[in-house]
Amino acid sequence: MEDSTMRMFSDVAPFRRDPLSFLVERGTTATEPLMPLAFGMRPLFLLTDPDYIKPLLKMPEEVMDKGPMVKKVRAVTGNNVTVLGGEENKRRRAVLHSVVGRTAVEGLTPMLARETRMAIAEVMKDGTFDARQFGASVALRLVSVVSFGANALSPEDVEIVIQALRQAMVELANTIFGPLQMPWAYLAQRRRIEGFKQDMIGVVRRVRQRAPESAIIRSYGELGLSDRDTADEILTLLLAGHDTTGATVAWLCHTMATMPELADQIAAEADAVRDDEGEIDFAKLASATTTTAAVREVLRLFPPGYWTGRGVREDVEFGGRKLRRGTAIIVSPWLFHRCSRFWEAPNEFRLDRNYTAKAYIPFGTGPRVCIGQALAFLELQIITLEVASAMRLVAKEPLGAPVPGVHLSPPAIPMEARERQSIRTSPSKNSGLASDEFTSSELAEPFRSGCPVHAHGGT
Ligand code: HEM
Repeated sequence: MEDSTMRMFSDVAPFRRDPLSFLVERGTTATEPLMPLAFGMRPLFLLTDPDYIKPLLKMPEEVMDKGPMVKKVRAVTGNNVTVLGGEENKRRRAVLHSVVGRTAVEGLTPMLARETRMAIAEVMKDGTFDARQFGASVALRLVSVVSFGANALSPEDVEIVIQALRQAMVELANTIFGPLQMPWAYLAQRRRIEGFKQDMIGVVRRVRQRAPESAIIRSYGELGLSDRDTADEILTLLLAGHDTTGATVAWLCHTMATMPELADQIAAEADAVRDDEGEIDFAKLASATTTTAAVREVLRLFPPGYWTGRGVREDVEFGGRKLRRGTAIIVSPWLFHRCSRFWEAPNEFRLDRNYTAKAYIPFGTGPRVCIGQALAFLELQIITLEVASAMRLVAKEPLGAPVPGVHLSPPAIPMEARERQSIRTSPSKNSGLASDEFTSSELAEPFRSGCPVHAHGGT
């Protein structure tokens, strides 16, 4: 290979070897807000200055959009909210906001807590479990009940959804990170994708009318989305909402296992935020400051969305550079969260950090900030409180390294669970979501003992 060609690709090998160290090293040694990366012909930059995060992520869409990654995601999950821009993105976000936005999630608290306790009761039966599996399982369970309602899916449909999710995760990883495909391999992939889409469309048709008014699937009706578009949206939410939250739950379990005093404090906060019936009271969650800080710190140390990208659509001056149309920019929460330029002892778990800092972006920022952030944060608070309340955790092995894929995933985290307090799994009387009362365990059954998506070779 000629020297100039080698230079053009010189960052590929070190990135492939260890992407996480590569990002932090580039962030730490950066001399400019936008550092060029040698990944091939397309001009590519890494954003390294937190002062530029907001200006970049808030740029008008005509100038900067979600970039080349959108095409790849669209190939698997179709035209959904994550890849759509403009008015259609706003319309779909508005609908989601009405169900999972900051003010809307309060009403979901009893249902989320009840589902969480059922998931905990399952792992406590055996006494040992893998925190990665547990995290993904409980997160999938919660995002499923928010999307479909607790009793809307038949056991057969649960299986179909799980299969579709599993396949979508594999295809997403292949599409984003895999080598360029030969035409016949591409066509075979198109057929596989169409296969699980048809299955999801079938689920949507069967479930749409049965689902409670409060479920996300019903809200899409307001938009007049076709069954196919609804299926794409639901699959996207399940993908975006279970791998991410699930990974964070796993890290939180490990943190509580290795810091028993912290776990005790969280268990005490769990007692303090319960109402007279023993249910978590949303209004009291603000007082659970240690729990909230622990969730924030784990999201800093292990941001599941560890990178995102933007693409330049119109020549523009930004970060001291003239960027040509077609240029791509990587924004990496991992880089910003782990860089010693922005945090003291960035690799240490500390509870007294400033989470309003510009370098803290687990959910992104700007108009495309994570639409599920209020739901995810509430889920994480509830799961952490309920886990600490019910179990004393003991890690059985030293923690392995995080695994960078579509999201940043934990390795297997084998744990032992000792009962701290017996767990209440009967439906709460005052759930406020009568149509969502969990009675038949239809949805829960296949989610038992680990996440079915991750248990069979998903990313
Ligand atoms: C700990 C959990 C989560 C983390 C760390 C996380 C992180 C992120 C990040 C960083 C983005 C912005 C990407 C960008 O700017 O390009 C994003 C977008 C998104 N997230 Fe999340 N997320 C989480 C949970 C969820 C949940 C529970 C849902 C759904 C209920 C969800 C749905 C979405 C969607 C639909 C988008 C795309 C929004 C748009 O492009 O308009 N996420 N997420």
